[in-house]
Amino acid sequence: MEIITVQGEAVPTLGFGTWPLKGEECRLGVEDALALGYRHIDTAQGYENEAEVGQAMKRSGVPRESIFLVTKVRPGNFTYDKTLSSSYESLEKLDAGYIDLLLLHWPNPDVPLAETLRAMRKLQEEGVMRHIGVSNFSPALVQEAAQHATIFCNQVEFHPYHPQRELLAQARQMDYLLTAYSPVARGKVMSDPVLQRIGATHGKTPAQVALRWLAQQGASVIPKAGSNEHRRANLAIFDFSLNDAEMAAIHALGGDKQSVL
Ligand SMILES: NC(=O)c1ccc[n+]([C@@H]2O[C@H](COP(=O)([O-])OP(=O)(O)OC[C@H]3O[C@@H](n4cnc5c(N)ncnc54)[C@H](OP(=O)(O)O)[C@@H]3O)[C@@H](O)[C@H]2O)c1
Repeated sequence: MEIITVQGEAVPTLGFGTWPLKGEECRLGVEDALALGYRHIDTAQGYENEAEVGQAMKRSGVPRESIFLVTKVRPGNFTYDKTLSSSYESLEKLDAGYIDLLLLHWPNPDVPLAETLRAMRKLQEEGVMRHIGVSNFSPALVQEAAQHATIFCNQVEFHPYHPQRELLAQARQMDYLLTAYSPVARGKVMSDPVLQRIGATHGKTPAQVALRWLAQQGASVIPKAGSNEHRRANLAIFDFSLNDAEMAAIHALGGDKQSVL
């Protein structure tokens, strides 16, 4: 498993996305992912599966400190008091001792960032979570957030049809983790002729090529995979690399397009 070093901390490049897995499907999926070697798990208050994620972590037998656990605060919980109470609730549901990275799930213009981040700093001081992050934040909003807390991560939609050149440059400059959600564009990459052609030369699928393209730019990737076959496939992206021409051909797929999902 490759790692990305951010602010001196090693984060596994590949994580397991758990939305929209729920109940037993989520428990079994996370347990299987951990057995296969995933060490980075992504959940959220809004996914309503934090308890199952925590149960799977326990059942897996993988030491807690080997797992990088990410969850997110719902935008409706961004007032000072609700950020605290909902995060305590997340911690209780996860029952994992602490959260490695707690993200603000989406910007919420109704609550000042300073207020929410004051609560996040308190949670960090209390040891509820180790790192503060954001999700779906523009570069300008990341800058604003950074005035109130050390931002460890921004998690955004990022795949070949939605490149994130500006955020990538900012992440490198500010030393934060850029995590790519929907990294295989919810399966859309599979029918892409360019990704199919590049994949064929490496013996890889278009999904593996898309994940490799993201990882090679220094992004973390959190594909969701409901099947063991896809979970295994998504792990097999560290034994090949894309050359400059291949990287450029994939960059060309995105143009200046916004989300295609
Ligand atoms: N921060 C946010 O606002 C936000 C928003 C959306 C998502 N997320 C996070 O990001 C994670 C991933 O995003 P996502 O679920 O939207 O999109 P995604 O991971 O790009 O796509 C998931 C879809 O791709 C398929 N797939 C996965 N691996 C594959 C492979 N190797 N070959 C072929 N198909 C494959 C899956 O099929 P199967 O399930 O059948 O295997 C599923 O249908 C979520 O689970 C969640 O944790 C965060």
